[in-house]
Amino acid sequence: VAAGMITGPRADEVQLAWQRSAVTRQQRQAEGATVWLTGLSGSGKSAVGVELERKLIATGRAAYLLDGDNLRHGLNADLGFTAADRSENVRRVGEVARLFADAGVVAIASLISPYGADRDRVRAVHDAAGLPFVEVFVDTPIDVCEERDPKGLYAKARAGSLTGFTGIDDPYQVPSAPELVFRPGDGDPAAMAEAILGFLES
Ligand code: PPS
Repeated sequence: VAAGMITGPRADEVQLAWQRSAVTRQQRQAEGATVWLTGLSGSGKSAVGVELERKLIATGRAAYLLDGDNLRHGLNADLGFTAADRSENVRRVGEVARLFADAGVVAIASLISPYGADRDRVRAVHDAAGLPFVEVFVDTPIDVCEERDPKGLYAKARAGSLTGFTGIDDPYQVPSAPELVFRPGDGDPAAMAEAILGFLES
């Protein structure tokens, strides 16, 4: 039997009950939140995420970095870079971030997450659960990202050997109402992480 033919009932065909936990959010650590870093490849969002995680842990808070590149090795190993796959990538990481936040952890998601509707959906999922969602736009202009080009991907995209690259021939939709925006002149990743910490504390 071909693999695709082995099918059980779809989720919407069965009666799925919601099993409630006997533990309240207050009984867990109540400091959970999601910090969502979005920006172009090479914008520095991963570096900010690393610094933020380090600082939170250093001050005794539970924090966990969910980096897009890393998750594509495991949870999202089946996804590529089509619009549908990017949406699914963002949806999955958004759900994982929500679970971490619900457990009392500061989830730090660092993904290009190029489409506004996908980011808004993740925000809505957090809003519905009563969990803080902090969207941080790492607004590094494409010419700066392209000059950095740490993985040589912009060069490949310009040469045409890599297609569908964000900012070149695939869109990046600028966030319409992010909680925080950082531009290159705002300092190094540590300074940006410090500003996010200040926002979380306030
Ligand atoms: S997305 O759009 O949110 O699903 O992307 P993400 O999971 O953050 O993964 C982005 C990293 O994948 C590499 N890469 C590409 N990026 C954009 N477009 C295309 N076509 C592509 N192909 C591979 C790239 O190294 C990104 O790394 P970062 O860390 O963002 O620089």
